[in-house]
Amino acid sequence: MCGIVAYIGTQEAYPIIIKGLQRLEYRGYDSAGVALMNGTLNVYKRKGKVQDLLDFADDKSTKGNVGIGHTRWATHGKPDDLNAHPHVSSNGRLTLVHNGIIENYEPLKKALQKDGYTFSSETDTEVLINLIQSIQDHDDLSLEEAVRIALTKVNGAYAIVVLDKNDPNKLVAARKASPLVLGIGEDELFFASDATPIIEYTKKVVYLNDLEIAVANRNGEFEIRTIDNSLTTPYVQELEMEIERIEKGGYDYFMLKEIHEQPKTICDAMRGRMNASEGWIRLGGLEEHSNRLVNADRIIIAACGTSWHSGLIAEYLFEELARMPVEVEYASELRYRNPVITEKDVVIAVSQSGETADTLAAIELADEKGALIYGIVNVVGSSIARASDAGSYIHAGPEIGVASTKAFTGQVTVLTLMALNLAFKRGKISKTYYHQLLTEMEAIPGKIEKILKSNSKIEYIAGEIKDSTNALYLGRGYNFPVALEGALKLKEISYIHAEGYPAAEMKHGPIALIDENMPVVVIATNQSAYEKIVSNVQEVKARNGKVIAVVTEGEKIISQMADYTIEIPETLEPLTPLLSVIPMQLLSYHIALMRGCNVDQPRNLAKSVTVE
Ligand code: M6R
Repeated sequence: MCGIVAYIGTQEAYPIIIKGLQRLEYRGYDSAGVALMNGTLNVYKRKGKVQDLLDFADDKSTKGNVGIGHTRWATHGKPDDLNAHPHVSSNGRLTLVHNGIIENYEPLKKALQKDGYTFSSETDTEVLINLIQSIQDHDDLSLEEAVRIALTKVNGAYAIVVLDKNDPNKLVAARKASPLVLGIGEDELFFASDATPIIEYTKKVVYLNDLEIAVANRNGEFEIRTIDNSLTTPYVQELEMEIERIEKGGYDYFMLKEIHEQPKTICDAMRGRMNASEGWIRLGGLEEHSNRLVNADRIIIAACGTSWHSGLIAEYLFEELARMPVEVEYASELRYRNPVITEKDVVIAVSQSGETADTLAAIELADEKGALIYGIVNVVGSSIARASDAGSYIHAGPEIGVASTKAFTGQVTVLTLMALNLAFKRGKISKTYYHQLLTEMEAIPGKIEKILKSNSKIEYIAGEIKDSTNALYLGRGYNFPVALEGALKLKEISYIHAEGYPAAEMKHGPIALIDENMPVVVIATNQSAYEKIVSNVQEVKARNGKVIAVVTEGEKIISQMADYTIEIPETLEPLTPLLSVIPMQLLSYHIALMRGCNVDQPRNLAKSVTVE
């Protein structure tokens, strides 16, 4: 949560920072601010979006070749102008932007207050900048040394950039458990929470490691030290990201663009990793640890939100195809239990951002217990990718819409390949079925293209149910996690309360909610439990529920009972979620749009949840 951009060099810093913050708005968008040095220090901050900051600063001086900026997702203190970053130290000399949480801010604040420091915000960040100032004042230290000592005194997570008004020829940045990238241009340097604000200026980056402190000088030189003050040799990487992939490309919203990208992103997730005609699957990270995976006692999948839903699909896949026992865990629960995990277990962390604090902490715990950690991650170089022993990127490209769409199908694609590969190696799948599944995998992108053509029908259905206050999503087997995902999509972007349920569980409680005002989305494509789901639809109709059924092309029985039907092409049952989730995504998108919601930036949410 929260996005950081900083610049030092020869160009005007403000436009670079503003554009970068707009790219990072998916990380938080309740307030924004900048600090710019141009002889004097100008700090502008505003509640609201980056656009509100832009409007506010319109008639003000925004000159300067060095500056720091921030877009906030509130943790300590409500979203308002005072709590917005950057925060300035009591003596007005130091300015700081921060992503993360300083957990011991209260005792630090009390000690600083005793020494006469005053605070104008409710944030933990203002405590940190005053702590740095107090250390600098006390021992007359350089900024980097004061930052280093201050960071040895704080608990929690941080990515920070600090600007000293008395020494505007450098920026000091540091990270622990929150991401920070250093961009290296010609005579200029950048910091950002991810590479998207940097990409159009340079492709050369260094991903800072935990407990590293970077000093960026105006002449383009930089130095990175650990918190113990040892000099490090930075690993400079070339970014492979393309600028077009982080722009809307003609779509009104990133979410719609990302939904439509799925035929391509699924191909990208499979590219070079499988060949149906030759009958092979090769996942680089998996090959290296093949024995350990094939002989694992158990697979534990740790994830949050949509990624947890992908994990649930993987449970069905690994159990059915590879006959491996699987447990799917909310990372936030796993990390605070005392789970039984051994070195015979494999823990798969599923995460789009690769920065989710709970997932990261869960794998750190599993790592201590000796399990092999396998990361299924989208963001290259992210914390979870780096904390894993091995892994596979999903190659979905930047996902900017807060509601996850293409990352979900990318995760399911990679998890399917993994399950099939293990099934084959463990001798648990017939050659014929293995080949059929591989061939069908290759057909999935084309079938998604076909579903996307139903967009206007789905839009019409959205119009029919957009004013509902509740919705129920039902599915069985592989479609149960899709029901959960459909409900999550609807509630997070349209603010309609929605529940996903295993269809057969409905009669154990939720059936009491059904009346003529309750839309019930039934994902009814299942081959194996088809008659059962027909009965479930009958049960809903008998209580006057409004049924929106997702069925396989040519299906007749449920289509006749349902109020609205969305057809999807036939596929093999384990691959159904890759198709059945597409109407869920489009339905929630259209409903949210019709209700006037900000589809890409729903209230209270952030794309990357780097706090617990
Ligand atoms: O980056 P991650 O996949 O680890 O994020 C996990 C969840 O925060 C995320 O899936 C969230 O639920 C999305 N907003 C769902 O659309």
